[in-house]
Amino acid sequence: MVKGAVRLRERLQDVIRGHILIEEPLCRHTYFRIGGPAEVMVYPADVEDLKVLLAVARDESVPVLVLGSGSNMLVLDGGVEGVVINLSRTFLDLSAVDGLVRCGAGVRTSRLLALAARSGLTGFEGLTGVPGTVGGAIRGNAGTPSGTILDHLDWIRVVDCSGEERLLSRGEMNTGYRSCALPTGAVIVEAAFTLRKGVPVEIRRTISTLLVRRNLTQPVEFRSAGCIFKNPLGDFAGRLVELAELKRLRRGGAEISGTHGNFIVNLGGATAADVLWLVDRARTEVRAKTGVALELEIQVVGSPGAR
Ligand code: EPU
Repeated sequence: MVKGAVRLRERLQDVIRGHILIEEPLCRHTYFRIGGPAEVMVYPADVEDLKVLLAVARDESVPVLVLGSGSNMLVLDGGVEGVVINLSRTFLDLSAVDGLVRCGAGVRTSRLLALAARSGLTGFEGLTGVPGTVGGAIRGNAGTPSGTILDHLDWIRVVDCSGEERLLSRGEMNTGYRSCALPTGAVIVEAAFTLRKGVPVEIRRTISTLLVRRNLTQPVEFRSAGCIFKNPLGDFAGRLVELAELKRLRRGGAEISGTHGNFIVNLGGATAADVLWLVDRARTEVRAKTGVALELEIQVVGSPGAR
């Protein structure tokens, strides 16, 4: 496998200006601090570099995984085959002019929220404490009961699988609870939002109230991937896991949080196999006790064992 990675790196080095790594441990790039290596990881230098990269991957029939900040992701212990495109250092432009906020896909949601608050614009407060990059947040329609990233979205700019740049308006995007379907293989590079003028002191007050609440109700002191399951219609996954008496259940270095039942935390040295074992146990017991089938919110990628 390393041989394949070296060959792919050599091919890419001739045409890519960005940074290329081989067999890069993905535990360095996920919030969970879990995950085997990426065969090849590339930080594209800009949109033209990204287009070339996607073209090579297509040409070589190499699978592609786009990584933002790895906040809503469980990478399995065997790692990821093909190319992982790391967008956390690219597409970092951010501006607000007359309520129109334009934002590169690699910008952290916390920076977007801070800019809106500084500019006296309201609408993003519901994103308080939501980790990740704007591109990743749009893909997963991230948010809280107080609002999601798509609520004020106007359009996104993507590079599609044929390497073409396209603008997609909000109306063209098929979205649902914690989901946003894009054309196959499309990579988001920029997004634009329209926000209303608000009262700066109220915006800041809302943000600090939500932050305090989050810090009290979620295990922020540990590594995790945020909520593991989607909330089932009309109920809460955390409540159901608590009802099934699974809080504080441990497997290896992973634990179902005692603070919030919809979080699995890495106490140190957890493997993806430990996490999946707990996920399976939670699904089985919640189903047996309540009849509810919990659906994963996090994205699970990679191979379980050595590639
Ligand atoms: N609850 C329990 N036991 C628990 C956890 C929660 O009984 O162990 C109960 C709470 O008492 C409350 C209800 O479940 O009545 C909802 O709990 P909470 O207010 O913590 O909200 P949540 O629905 O569990 C959602 C989002 C979080 C977001 C919070 C902000 C989902 C799946 N989760 O959690 O988002 O931070 O609201 O309030 O939509 C994420 O998406 O990664 C995430 C963490």
